[in-house]
Amino acid sequence: MCGIFGYLGSRPLLETLLSGLRRLEYRGYDSSGIGYVEGGALRILREKGKIASLAEVADSVQTKATAGISHTRWATHGVPEKRNAHPHLSFDGKIAVTHNGIIENYRELKERLQKAGVAFQSETDTEVIAHLIAKNYQGDLYKAVAATLPLLEGAYGLAILAADEPDLIVGARKGSPLVIGVGEGEMILSSDTAAIVPFTKNVVYMNDGELVTLRRDHYQLTSLHAGPRKAEVSSLSFDVGMIEKKGFEHFMLKEIFEQAETVANAYRGRILPDEGNVKLGGLNFTAADAKAVRRAVIVACGTSWHAALVGEYLLENLAGLPVEVDYASEYTSRNCILEDGTLFLAISQSGETADTLSALREARTKGAKTHGIVNVVGSTIARETDGGIYLHAGPEIGVASTKAFTSQVTALVLLAVYFGRLRLLPSEDARRILTALTKIPEQIQHILERAQTLKDMAARYLDGHHALYLGRSYNFPVALEGALKLKEISYIHAEGYPAAEMKHGPIALIDENMPVIVVATKGDTYAKVLSNIQEVRARKGRVIAIATEGDKDIAAASDEVFYVPETLPMLAPILNVIPLQLLAYYAAVARGCDVDQPRNLAKSVTVE
Ligand code: AGP
Repeated sequence: MCGIFGYLGSRPLLETLLSGLRRLEYRGYDSSGIGYVEGGALRILREKGKIASLAEVADSVQTKATAGISHTRWATHGVPEKRNAHPHLSFDGKIAVTHNGIIENYRELKERLQKAGVAFQSETDTEVIAHLIAKNYQGDLYKAVAATLPLLEGAYGLAILAADEPDLIVGARKGSPLVIGVGEGEMILSSDTAAIVPFTKNVVYMNDGELVTLRRDHYQLTSLHAGPRKAEVSSLSFDVGMIEKKGFEHFMLKEIFEQAETVANAYRGRILPDEGNVKLGGLNFTAADAKAVRRAVIVACGTSWHAALVGEYLLENLAGLPVEVDYASEYTSRNCILEDGTLFLAISQSGETADTLSALREARTKGAKTHGIVNVVGSTIARETDGGIYLHAGPEIGVASTKAFTSQVTALVLLAVYFGRLRLLPSEDARRILTALTKIPEQIQHILERAQTLKDMAARYLDGHHALYLGRSYNFPVALEGALKLKEISYIHAEGYPAAEMKHGPIALIDENMPVIVVATKGDTYAKVLSNIQEVRARKGRVIAIATEGDKDIAAASDEVFYVPETLPMLAPILNVIPLQLLAYYAAVARGCDVDQPRNLAKSVTVE
């Protein structure tokens, strides 16, 4: 959720901290703040609202300070008000803390501090950390932080300043990501590599349980349990251009239009056309491991969960593997049995989603081998799994996930072919699937060229308060994804349903005011979906159908049809989701919504 950006070096401090925060704003944006040391005292600037409000205040401030911390907030404890914005100061004004995560025992700690006479200024959990560090501070910030952390239960990513040690930042990580940017004569501590890449591509990923002391030309990593660590410096694989809008009005639109390229990136170098097979080196599977797989369990959240549902059909149909898909948060509430031969798969664009990470760690405690389908290289889920498939989709900045979904489905197609070829999928069938997959980017481009048609449809149909999305088989998860896109960026209530299931209740909602988007491309269930459309129309529902080019029957049954190129039903979700992404986008823009930073949302949900 929130974003942390700390800097030590000779650049203009406030301007540098603000530039870092702006690259983190998509992670949370209800309030923000900056802290630095000037004249032996801590200075704090904090404002409610977006970074622009903080920038207005900072513009009138001059400082020669060379170290500072900053934070953009997604409220967990305490309303989005200035008093709850970070950094939080200790009772003596000597310690400033910015924090991502949740301190689960903060009430108990707060009561203890209040009994000791400490007055609190906020309703946040974070404030207790500042007071506790100050209580432990005897001139060495690192030692004070190390003495405090064992008192904290829950998750934290911390960046901390002390008034008496002006050119030092101490960081600590447990369950919420922190990355060190190692520059020339400057250091950065951030919750996200997107804020580091404009300064340097050299990064060090912190592990859970580690602290770091940062000076402008030196960093020292230490684990609370294992002592100092000489960490290897990694090089980021993307550049600033990939986190700019490049002329698009919103990151979301840019990322929708990147999908021809990002789907190709997801399969590039992984298809063996002559053998009718795939190469997925990142799985770290031995042939024996792979052949021993008897079932799959997939956990994820949100859009990634929708991709997981497509993966269920793919793995069952191509590899004959029984598959269980669960919301990650529900998985940890169950006592799911993981026998030998279970492929445990976590799907996550950010690789930092707390619910998914928690499910992954639960599986690992049960001894399961775990794998990830992740976009962000070096993210926690990527580093805590035994292997996996990177999406190579580049940074996804828009809060509403788009290119990640199509790349996740592409990766799942490759995975299903991989296991299929070990079990029952003939090479000829695999070759046919993979050949069709390599045609998808061009077909995506053909859809994107007709974006204006979708903009017009959105204006005609998606201006009300509700919408229903229907689909069957491979297209059922697509219906769910279309509904999620619409509700999370336009705030129109939308539900996705299996097309047949609509008869068992939701049909009561159908009237002339209910737009019904039906994903009705050719496949085994087409005839039944056509019947479902007619059931909707018989009740005056207004139907937008997503259909296969050349379909002669659908137009007579629908109010509007958007045609997509023909592909195999198992690949259709990659194409069919794109018109739904654009319908949601244009509906949200028409309603004046903040498409890239929708209210109440954040890009990576790093709290459970
Ligand atoms: C999707 O548009 C949402 N932003 C959200 O549901 C997201 O998919 C979910 O939080 C999972 O995120 P992850 O893929 O980074 O784990």
